[in-house]
Amino acid sequence: MAPLPISSIRVGKIEDVQELIKSKPNKVPERFIRESNERGVIVSLKTQHHHHIPVIDLSKLSKPHTHDDFFFEILKLSQACEDWGFFQVINHGIEVEVVEDIEKVAKEFFEMPLEEKKKYPMEPGTVQGYGQAFIFSEDQKLDWCNMFALGVHPPSIRNPKLWPSKPARFSENLEGYSKEIRKLCKRLLKYIAISLGLKEERFEEMFGEAVQAVRMNYYPPCSSPDLVLGLSPHSDGSALTVLQQSKNSCVGLQILKDNTWVPVLPLPNALVINIGDTLEVLTNGKYKSVEHRAVTNREKVRLTIVTFYAPNYEVKIEPMDELVDDETNPCKYRSYNHGDYSYHYVSNKLQGKKSLDFAKILN
Ligand code: OGA
Ligand code: NI
Repeated sequence: MAPLPISSIRVGKIEDVQELIKSKPNKVPERFIRESNERGVIVSLKTQHHHHIPVIDLSKLSKPHTHDDFFFEILKLSQACEDWGFFQVINHGIEVEVVEDIEKVAKEFFEMPLEEKKKYPMEPGTVQGYGQAFIFSEDQKLDWCNMFALGVHPPSIRNPKLWPSKPARFSENLEGYSKEIRKLCKRLLKYIAISLGLKEERFEEMFGEAVQAVRMNYYPPCSSPDLVLGLSPHSDGSALTVLQQSKNSCVGLQILKDNTWVPVLPLPNALVINIGDTLEVLTNGKYKSVEHRAVTNREKVRLTIVTFYAPNYEVKIEPMDELVDDETNPCKYRSYNHGDYSYHYVSNKLQGKKSLDFAKILN
């Protein structure tokens, strides 16, 4: 989430979805209604039964590297990153309280009166604060979602004015949570390096002081879930993304696999991990940043807490030498500065994997 210049973008009136359903529970305003080809059709779970995103057991990866369990789990990880770009981790070692505490304050935040939340506004063209991000025109369709986003690390990307004073423990819980998620990301990047045959410190050394941001997505129920989308299709600009779905969350996240939207079924105490654009570029496309979206449902609120973990803005990104071979596997992406990519990402609307065109070498 790179800083954006002061802009004079006209975005029209952006209705707050929670307020909207309070006043008119059965109405879906035109600006939320999607074209028929991009609507959030709920895919039947039965027909998708054979389609589960892989589950990686991190307790197996804590074993000595010579252990069979370690070896097989690394193999599973590399297949997950190549074939799915998504996986869930279980036994990740983050205390249940940490996970529950962040969920609690996030929920409390969204349930505060609008007046209170408006003290932390996401200004048009910016990506931190409360509101809807990625809106750049008056006719752009809106997502059925309220968002609250904050830069977390390094401190220079923080906007302290946007860290809420209510709920009382919000900041404290977010700090604690973010530390744990940061450790998890570093750990995952080690395993990902090993799975690519690289030395385990490869990404840590390259990334410098990694950038970490959080976005809380609150999806209110919708009377016509089939007309709207909770979150437009996109890939993440990060290296890695960690998504926490609230306890007893209903299905909402879908990923695009072989041209079908596959739902990600929430597992208790699991975290959903996905490969972002940055790792796709670094691995020269071997590991995929997969397009995904969120759909809504008629009855239940769905809350997700999403952490984006990326290299420092100063870092030069390009496919790693080890993954490029001029003869058999030519370089697919140009080199660029991560800050420039980040800026490009946040200054365009979410539109599938379009943001990666920035880096693609077109033949
Ligand atoms: C995101 C995202 C999905 C969800 O915030 O980038 O993909 O289910 N969220 O909230
Ligand atoms: Ni995403």
